[in-house]
Amino acid sequence: MTTSIPGEPWSTGVARDGSGALVVGGVPVARLAQEVGTPAYVLDEADLRARAAGYRRAFETAFAEVGAGVDVYYAGKAFLSVAVARWVHDEGLRVDTASGGELTVALRAGVPGADIGLHGNNKSDEELALALDHGVGRVIVDSLVEVERLAALVRSRGGDPAPVMVRVTTGVHAGGHEYISTAHEDQKFGLSVTARDGQDSPAMTALLAVLDHPELRLLGIHSHIGSQILDPSGFEVAARVVLELRAQLARRTGVLVEEVDLGGGYGIAYLPGEVALDPDRIAKDVAASVAAAAADLATPLPRFSIEPGRAVVGPSGLTLYTVGTVKPVRVDDETERLYVSVDGGMSDNIRPALYGARYHAEVVGRLSSAPSVLARVVGKHCESGDVVVHEVQLPGDVRAGDLLAVAATGAYGRSMASNYNLLTRPPVVAVRDGAVRTLLRRETVDDLLALDQG
Ligand SMILES: Cc1ncc(COP(=O)(O)O)c(C=O)c1O
Repeated sequence: MTTSIPGEPWSTGVARDGSGALVVGGVPVARLAQEVGTPAYVLDEADLRARAAGYRRAFETAFAEVGAGVDVYYAGKAFLSVAVARWVHDEGLRVDTASGGELTVALRAGVPGADIGLHGNNKSDEELALALDHGVGRVIVDSLVEVERLAALVRSRGGDPAPVMVRVTTGVHAGGHEYISTAHEDQKFGLSVTARDGQDSPAMTALLAVLDHPELRLLGIHSHIGSQILDPSGFEVAARVVLELRAQLARRTGVLVEEVDLGGGYGIAYLPGEVALDPDRIAKDVAASVAAAAADLATPLPRFSIEPGRAVVGPSGLTLYTVGTVKPVRVDDETERLYVSVDGGMSDNIRPALYGARYHAEVVGRLSSAPSVLARVVGKHCESGDVVVHEVQLPGDVRAGDLLAVAATGAYGRSMASNYNLLTRPPVVAVRDGAVRTLLRRETVDDLLALDQG
């Protein structure tokens, strides 16, 4: 049987024991299945902390070499719970949130408001007020309307000016699927840096509007170019565009903004043989290119920030399922595919259905010597697009009751989960040094019925 364990795309705490069964964070999967049931999201705490610290160290070191400071914000949209917010904050990261819910979880974890950023293209007044109540370090505004709304809110409440970054789109389009590429022009996020018809660009207009409002303090410019980016050049091009905009604003107004945020999107390995972006390499490349751009523009470097989400939590997670129905399906005269149904599906991982995302799975309760066969791992939902792993080689004797793990599901799995078909959302458990700790418990049908007003 082919196995990629240990190694990418699995977390560093994943291994097979003498019997061939999978152990994660020192905990055998059979024990996990017994204690918490399946499906379950399993987070390798030591691996997650090491990735968070690794990104921080890599960027701090590389940017210090060119004379710039940098802050690393963990993008909570990838997965946020109170424990995870504490872990990343312990490791020296700040937290980027994208809703009142994420902001509340970060605050509940004890992350100071000053270490939190609030994003969103359609923030409600309640979300903006919550951010102001807790003194968040930055509100990343996404439209001219929001500039006016935030200024009016601060005016009505009194108090210090709100620290603001303006999210811009640089035209750089990087990463996988169209829905997860956020810097091209025809989309809902940010303000374009492109000037048309002799007018200021929308980005410049918004920057000037922020400067015009005494209720707002213009902290900087923000750019996020996409997700699952494996080619570093997109970051370098976008950084230069943002630094040019900053220099243009300085020439126009004399205000040289202090900060530039380069967003997230650092790609990871989802399949055996794929190579994740190396934080040390990308940090060095980006630091060198921003230093060169600042020198060309004859402006001092700002303080930078980045917002990795997937690269911190994605590889640390796996989803553990139990196999149910196994059905051979003749695809054509030559090909047969084994459809292996598991006890979850698109409700716990929507990414294959939403973006055609590819994952890797293995049978993990035992080591089989049966020859491998072409398989597709599917869920239990009433939807033929309910695919978990599109194509994978699994042992030909895979059968009901086998434990099956899907690698690298820590990001955008639980955070995008649904109750489709009224399935209850799986728990998130952390493993470390042989101990299991539940971060989010499994939902129950009673939880669902508690919402149902009859
Ligand atoms: C503004 C912003 N920052 C950071 C991220 C995190 O991206 P990733 O998890 O790919 O690093 C996203 C993802 O959509 C984003 O929109």
